[in-house]
Amino acid sequence: MGCEVKGLEGVIAGDTAISTVGKKDMGLTYRGYSVEDLSEHASFEEVAYLLIHDKLPNHRELEEYRTALVNMRGVPDRLKVVLESLPPASHPMDVLRTGCSALGAIEPETAEREQDQYRVADRLLASFPYMLLYWYRFHQSGARISHESGQREMAGHILALLNGMPPEAIVRKAINASLVLYAEHEFNASTFSARVTASTLSDFHSAVTAAIGTLSGPLHGGANEQAMKMITPLRSPDEAEKEILRMLAAKKKVMGFGHRVYKKQPDPRSSIMKEWARRLSAEAGDMGLFLIFERIEEVMFREKKLFANVDFYGALTYHLCGIPTELFTPVFALARVSGWAAHIIEQRADNKLIRPSAEYIGPEARAYVPLDERP
Ligand code: SDX
Repeated sequence: MGCEVKGLEGVIAGDTAISTVGKKDMGLTYRGYSVEDLSEHASFEEVAYLLIHDKLPNHRELEEYRTALVNMRGVPDRLKVVLESLPPASHPMDVLRTGCSALGAIEPETAEREQDQYRVADRLLASFPYMLLYWYRFHQSGARISHESGQREMAGHILALLNGMPPEAIVRKAINASLVLYAEHEFNASTFSARVTASTLSDFHSAVTAAIGTLSGPLHGGANEQAMKMITPLRSPDEAEKEILRMLAAKKKVMGFGHRVYKKQPDPRSSIMKEWARRLSAEAGDMGLFLIFERIEEVMFREKKLFANVDFYGALTYHLCGIPTELFTPVFALARVSGWAAHIIEQRADNKLIRPSAEYIGPEARAYVPLDERP
C-alpha cells in the first residue's frame, strides 16, 4: 500500500554533468576529475571554479578568481546589524541561513540572471566565512572582526577569521582538503532542495537559503556535529565499543555511518578524511581520539556492515583542526555553496519545474457535514 520507494531511494530524478557519485567505472568525480586527485593536489578555489565553470582554471584564471573572491569577502553594515541582533545561542547554521537570506534582500540578484548568477555565486562563496565568523566572534567576545584575514585562500581565511591569527600549514592543508571533499555530491538532499527551488525560477539566494536549511538536518550535514557530541564523553576504545553496542541494541542511529548511495562500497571521502585525522593526531602526538574513532568504525562494520561516511572522520579532522563543534556543519556549508551554485546554474540552463506526483493513501471521497451536525 502506498509508494514502494520511500525518500526517492534509487530514483533517477534528473540529469547532471557536475559529478558522479557511486558510479561503477568513475567513483566520485567532479566534472570528470577524481576527488582523490582534487583533494590531494587542488586548492578549494580551483575546485569551486571547476564546478561552476566546468574547467580547471589556468594560472591567470585562478589568480583573477582568487582576487575577485578576496574583493567580495566583506558584508554590508546593515547585514552586520542583522547578525549582531541574532541571539548568541542561535545555531550557526541558522545564522548562515539568515545571513544568506538577508544578503539576498540587501543585494538582490538582477534581472540579467544569465550573467549575474555567477556574481551571486562568487559573492556567497566569498562572504559566507566572514558572515558566519563575524557573528561567532561578536557573540563570543564582543569583537567586531575585519574581513581582512591576510589569507588569500578560503581554508586559511576561515581559520584566520576564527582564531585571529595565521593558521599552521598542516591545519590549513587539512581544511583545504575537507572543503574539496565537502564541495559537491550530486543530488544529495540539500542540493536537490536548491534545484527544486531554482526550478520554480525563484532567485539564487532563496535556492541557497533552502539548501542551508536542508543541510542542517542530522541525517544530512548535521551528522558531523552529532558524531562529535556522541564521542566526546568516551574515554577509551573499549568504552566506545560498549556505548555503540548499547546504542545499536536500543535501535539508535550512530551519526557518521550509513549512506543512501554508499551501501555496498565505502564513501571514498571517508578514507581521505581518516588519513588527515591520523596525520593531525600524529602531529599532535596523541592518537587517543583517533583510536576511539577507529574502534567505532570497526564495530559499526562488524555489527551492521555500515561504512563510515564523510562526516565521521570529518568530525575528528575538524576537532583536531580546532574548529568548534557547533561550526562543523557551517564549515561543510561554506564548501557546499560551490556545489549548490553549480547545480542552480545547471538547473536554470535546461529548466523544467520539479514537481513529482504522490501515491494517495488517504480516505475515500466523503460528503460534507455541516458544522452543527458534527458529533
Ligand atoms: C551526508 O546524500 C548525500 O550525498 C549526503 C552527503 C553529501 O555529501 O551531501 O554524503 C552528506 O549527509 C552523509 C550522511 C550523514 N548522515 C548520517 O551520518 C546520519 C546517520 N545515517 C543514517 O541516518 C542513514 O544512514 C542515512 C540517512 C544517511 C541513509 O539512510 P537510508 O538510505 O534512508 O537508509 P535507512 O535509514 O533506511 O537505513 C537502512 C538500515 C536501517 O536498518 P533497518 O531499520 O532496515 O534494520 O541501516 C540502518 C537503519 O536502521 N542504519 C543505521 C544507520 N544508518 C542506517 N543504523 C545505525 N546507525 C546508522 N547511522
